[in-house]
Amino acid sequence: MGFKIVKKRELIPNRVSELTIYAPDIASKARPGNFVILRIFPKGERIPLTIADKSPAEGTITIVYLVVGKTTAHLETFQVGDEILDVCGPLGKPTRIEKKGEVVCVGGGTGIAAMHHIAKGHAQVGNKVISVIGARSKDLLLFEEELSKFSHKVLVATDDGSKGKKGLVTQVLEDYLKSHEVKEVVAVGPVPMMKAVSELTKKYSVPTTVSLNSIMVDGIGMCGACRVSVGGRIRFACVEGPEFDAHEVDFDELMLRLRSYVKQEQISYNHFCE
Ligand code: FAD
Ligand code: FES
Repeated sequence: MGFKIVKKRELIPNRVSELTIYAPDIASKARPGNFVILRIFPKGERIPLTIADKSPAEGTITIVYLVVGKTTAHLETFQVGDEILDVCGPLGKPTRIEKKGEVVCVGGGTGIAAMHHIAKGHAQVGNKVISVIGARSKDLLLFEEELSKFSHKVLVATDDGSKGKKGLVTQVLEDYLKSHEVKEVVAVGPVPMMKAVSELTKKYSVPTTVSLNSIMVDGIGMCGACRVSVGGRIRFACVEGPEFDAHEVDFDELMLRLRSYVKQEQISYNHFCE
């Protein structure tokens, strides 16, 4: 028996969807920062997706995915009542959350959904959470309403200026860092965004945590696919992360490794579309 989809919400039609999945054992143990690995059919690849939210009372977890290739396109064909073959988790180390004061959580793209669970965890222990979210335009912004339920403020940046400040999340973040005593910055999103946030916060000496999206296969430390360099040491993001000290991460190496199978991914996606 698989894992039943009990709710589906199209956040951006044909691009980003949210699925609520009945998985009571995972829901009861999931903590901010954890992820799951899905396999949607017997010969399917395994893909990691962050647990964006959970409801232990209803026995559900929520995932949000961007359609980028074959498996996410296939997942997008699933509807309420369909079952996902395997959902393995919760995986990864949970976020280290302690009461410390003001925490700025930065999210870009579907990273905003992943950041949501972490930001909520910080708010629940009494930290003052400022959420900074960015997208190309206002139609592509995710989770603004959800974040506003527990954030002290939600600051928005869009590339085209259709909402909030025109520009990048780093510009909004820099304005904020100049005039506030921030104890920690958390950033989740595309690697270039996390790299830019890290370079900025280094300048302001603010401790920063990023959640790395390296390629993963087993998710339990056996295959080595998720290797990342942090502080000059090889670390396995699935079991030692996915969160690391941003100022120690080799982002350029991560970007190169993420592009290792682009040709095969394109062939596989074209084959799926035929
Ligand atoms: P493909 O065409 O196979 O790949 C497109 C790109 O996705 C690749 O170039 C590569 O950069 C990346 N990718 C491919 N396979 C994997 C894999 N097995 N593991 C990791 N990355 C891969 N995406 C979301 O939209 N929402 C999330 O909440 C989310 N959380 C993640 C949490 C973690 C811990 C990690 C490691 C990744 C997360 N991702 C998330 C990325 C997601 O796993 C990939 O987008 C997905 O695997 C793409 O599969 P595909 O077959 O659709 O695309
Ligand atoms: Fe295999 Fe991390 S995904 S070791």
